[in-house]
Amino acid sequence: MRVPIIAGNWKMNTNIPEALALVDGMLSPLDGIKGVEKVLCPPFVSLQAVGDKIAGTSVRLGAQNMYFQERGAYTGEISPVMLAGLCHYVILGHSERRQHFGETDELVNRKVQAAVSHKLVPIICVGESLAQNEEGLTNSVVRLQVKAALQGLSPDDVKNVVFAYEPIWAIGTGKAATGQGANAVIGLIRATVAGLYDRQTAQGLRIQYGGSVTATNIAEFIRQPEIDGALVGGASLKAEEFLRIVEQTAQIKGAGTVSR
Ligand code: PGA
Repeated sequence: MRVPIIAGNWKMNTNIPEALALVDGMLSPLDGIKGVEKVLCPPFVSLQAVGDKIAGTSVRLGAQNMYFQERGAYTGEISPVMLAGLCHYVILGHSERRQHFGETDELVNRKVQAAVSHKLVPIICVGESLAQNEEGLTNSVVRLQVKAALQGLSPDDVKNVVFAYEPIWAIGTGKAATGQGANAVIGLIRATVAGLYDRQTAQGLRIQYGGSVTATNIAEFIRQPEIDGALVGGASLKAEEFLRIVEQTAQIKGAGTVSR
């Protein structure tokens, strides 16, 4: 059985005091929710402070990006060596990185390889643009992104990977995909991994949906059999709303004892 995973991607929001206040507003009830893995991904500068605050709880820490080199003359970059031991997860290949910072499939793959070799669990984002969606290219685009991201990974490596299907047209737009539509693409990601590796590896793989997830629409996604959680942007900046997203996930996926 796959443990559902809800991750909050805070993006370029919150300074350190704001990040700590956001954690304070949700930590105790969040810690009490069982059967769902809960991940907070604050900006780099707040990782240590948030990490200290959630230490000893069931809440895990993730970074939003990473370079693939371990050290050296790469001004402004953060390496896997710096993140290892500090956080558990790292979001890689987010469409905002691809779009605003020119990240290619090849670069994303190098980052994925670096994360896995430093025992960081990558949350690999894939998803089509609006134009690609309208041209009926969703499946081929997503299949290519998945294949490229996993180049060079062994079946064992793939056990320590999470995917997030995030259609670009749904990110930050308030225009989420439908549960059925997201379920179909996520099923395709799983089938792609089964083709590249084997059925068992694919069945164990956790795949999130992301894009305008809220406390109002989370149930529609979580009820789908292929969808194992969500990567939440805007709604993860509101403590109460994020809690309600995690609580519903626990209840719907059946694991859930919710203690509040
Ligand atoms: P959103 O962002 O929930 O604000 O649409 C999701 C994401 O980019 O991960």
